[in-house]
Amino acid sequence: MNALSVNVGSVNLKSPLILASGTCNFGRELSEYYDLKILGGISSKGLTIKPRAGNPGVRVAECDSGMLNSVGLQNPGVDYFIENDLDFMRDSGAAVIVNVAGHSYEDYIEMVKKLDPHKEKIDALEINLSCPNVKEGCMTIGSDPSAIRYITSELRKLTDLPIWIKLTPNVTDIKATALAAQAGGADAVVLINTLMGMRIDIRTRRPVLTNNTGGYSGPAVKPVAIRMVAECSQVLDIPIVGCGGIADYKDVIEFMIAGASAVEVGTACLVHPALPVDLTSDLEKYCEDNNIALKDLTGTLQRW
Ligand code: SIN
Repeated sequence: MNALSVNVGSVNLKSPLILASGTCNFGRELSEYYDLKILGGISSKGLTIKPRAGNPGVRVAECDSGMLNSVGLQNPGVDYFIENDLDFMRDSGAAVIVNVAGHSYEDYIEMVKKLDPHKEKIDALEINLSCPNVKEGCMTIGSDPSAIRYITSELRKLTDLPIWIKLTPNVTDIKATALAAQAGGADAVVLINTLMGMRIDIRTRRPVLTNNTGGYSGPAVKPVAIRMVAECSQVLDIPIVGCGGIADYKDVIEFMIAGASAVEVGTACLVHPALPVDLTSDLEKYCEDNNIALKDLTGTLQRW
């Protein structure tokens, strides 16, 4: 038996480790560092109907314990992806999670209509209702429970593929947005995307990022993500994919105890591209030492 195998609803993963959207493109570059088939899955860069060049100027800034990004959904467009990258992802041996972004309800609907005919190559759609770096769609929809419920239910009518809703932490009550995704028919939620932040150059007194603000990720956001996973785990019936600041195997375990069925790893791989290789062997050792299957940890938090 593979001690690392987990399920996110109907999606079986050989490992809980999924590469987080936006930190691995479509996996090709990382395949030069290690064999991607050790991964549970790869979440593609956020895709849109038309290709996007992303935001101009400075788009990334290092911070204490993490980084800010305002990439602005740079991507080649969904048609190019289907033609040129989807087969690579399928052949990688990791589950294929396609991250779907949009600027309006209609965009998300058109995206799912374009992807559904390729469903035999796709394991799940990760609906990005959380990118903080574009003016319309994404986080604007993802901050409003009624909008989340509406778009999720519209997408549910269009496909049998598992629908994972990636939520923003930039809300007052994460339970309300997660429950709205569930009510709309989502198969899972992904918690969390980046926290909105800003850095200022004290010499010019201008924001470091040309877009002024960006999304903060990395080890500093982990306690926020853990808290949100633990809160949602108490109220949801659907699985949670945890994401935010994972840098070693203990972080994976912490997320699973909080309630995650699988996790996404991102920013730490920008520092150490082959990190999933270390995480895999450390998790295998943990399971062996503790005579445990990883999936048995999910939601085992003992509250005070
Ligand atoms: C970006 O491309 O700006 C980041 C994507 C995201 O936060 O979902």
